[in-house]
Amino acid sequence: MDVVLSYNTIECLPDPLEMLAEVARVLRPGGRAVIAHVDFDSMVIAGADADLDRRVCHAFADDAQSWMDHADGRIGRKLGLLLAYSPLDLVGVEPLLVWSTEFTGHAKDRVDQIRKALLSAARHGRGAVAPEEVEAWYTSVRDADQLGGFFFSELAFIAVAEKTRSGRIGHGAGSHDGRRAAPVGAGSMLHLPTAA
Ligand SMILES: C[S@@+](CC[C@H](N)C(=O)[O-])C[C@H]1O[C@@H](n2cnc3c(N)ncnc32)[C@H](O)[C@@H]1O
Repeated sequence: MDVVLSYNTIECLPDPLEMLAEVARVLRPGGRAVIAHVDFDSMVIAGADADLDRRVCHAFADDAQSWMDHADGRIGRKLGLLLAYSPLDLVGVEPLLVWSTEFTGHAKDRVDQIRKALLSAARHGRGAVAPEEVEAWYTSVRDADQLGGFFFSELAFIAVAEKTRSGRIGHGAGSHDGRRAAPVGAGSMLHLPTAA
């Protein structure tokens, strides 16, 4: 492969380094991986009640929805390090900010998704926010839009890494798939499974 592109998926994987090892295997020498993800814990929604807003945004970022094997709402900020500990060579990380002052399009889709996910979480006993609080938050967001005080932003990170031109996978870290062993501290901060 010349390029592998992954968007908003790696947070769902219990072992993201396993996926990156497979990406390294299928890339040609000099091929690139583009791994992008929203950092859901960085979402800003203004216009709603501040305390409720913080709780709702953090609860959404932390919730592993029923279709997810794993969730990490802070994966965006970790992409650079994940790639640095993969068999690939990190080229760089770019931020991408999406914002809106109108409750339409992507901003509305995301707010609607948060409402649905947190109501479902409450129904399934994972509710960090009570259903009536979710609805109060949703109403306050819509009220803010009616009054001209709505703002939404979402920060994604786009990490790019390259397979070394020699075709050699990895950097001689000693594991069969070329993973670099993450230092113990960094590995636990990233919540990485221990490399084999
Ligand atoms: C938020 S969606 C993003 C889909 C698509 N990349 C996009 O941007 O529209 C996350 C995707 O991860 C997939 N997924 C969840 N757990 C997975 C796993 N353990 N292995 C592979 N894919 C998984 C889901 O099926 C879903 O398609």
